[in-house]
Amino acid sequence: MTILREMKLALVAAIALLCGVAEAAPAGAAAPAAAQFRRGVNIIGYDPIWKDPAKARFQQKHFGEIRRGGFDFVRVNLFAFEHMDERNRLDPKWLERLDWVVREAGKAGLGVILDEHDFDACAKDLPACKVKLPAFWRQVAPRYARAPASVAFELLNEPYGPLDADTWNTLSAELLGIVRASNPARTVIIGPTQWNNFAQLKTLKLPEADRNILVTFHYYEPFRFTHQGASWAGDMKDVKGVQWSEDGRLQARRDFATVAAWAKAQRRPVLLGEFGAYDMSGTPIDQRVAYTKAIREEAEAAGFPWAYWQFDSNFLVWDMDKDGWVEPIRSALIPSPR
Ligand code: BGC
Repeated sequence: MTILREMKLALVAAIALLCGVAEAAPAGAAAPAAAQFRRGVNIIGYDPIWKDPAKARFQQKHFGEIRRGGFDFVRVNLFAFEHMDERNRLDPKWLERLDWVVREAGKAGLGVILDEHDFDACAKDLPACKVKLPAFWRQVAPRYARAPASVAFELLNEPYGPLDADTWNTLSAELLGIVRASNPARTVIIGPTQWNNFAQLKTLKLPEADRNILVTFHYYEPFRFTHQGASWAGDMKDVKGVQWSEDGRLQARRDFATVAAWAKAQRRPVLLGEFGAYDMSGTPIDQRVAYTKAIREEAEAAGFPWAYWQFDSNFLVWDMDKDGWVEPIRSALIPSPR
């Protein structure tokens, strides 16, 4: 690190301290809700386990591996809409599988976030989403009403498109009402529109009296670094060779200070629910490691619990073929010895 860069880092830290944000979130009365989640990982959104358990990649032993690997919670990504019948009833077999996930994660000592992940379906067909999402929470919330406090509900991953701020504020209030009917004391996770963009936090409307809400945002900056080569991410498909730079750390520090200031003013705890760098782009592992370490450190310095994107499928921290951790990424996330 150059002296100039060290000076820049020190200056940003001093400004954050002067603004009173360095020691920010988790803040306010809802702090206990945030305190139960510290270091997590996103799991099984794209695993065949949901359609055909016989083909599951994720096995029971992985819960223990995740715990022993130093993580304390899992964010379970649920594409539930495709498991509903014509009357929006969830397939009983799918629900039993979900029971298994919640039970086994708990047995392994992991907290659980049930994250409804049909964000693309919601952006494509808002009228259907407005029926299916309430139907989902009407079935799932009562089912886990007696689950331990270490189970939290995330109403919808990354609302975007027609789910603009106003539409999302209205829909999320309806969903929260559904959840609260059976789960008055459950931690509920809600993030702002535009893919849980922190810049949209100011548009998020939450009921003042409900202090058991954990606010989430996702952070993939610098996007041209984290998503280079990603076919699903607009024009990123042909981007390659973008280098990680410690300027990315400074940017994260500034952005997280903005989030922490919001959290402090609103007295809301905050979760960084996703971050990571795409692994199939040819980006050298040491670059991904430097990125992962920097963002994790900055999130922790700002007081945010976090969940890495993701265990398997892509952006890997676990290698199914080798049946073990992608150790450099794991130890960038969990620095202390196991
Ligand atoms: C999406 C994934 C995507 C990731 C990073 C997640 O919210 O579900 O499909 O790979 O963001 O872009």
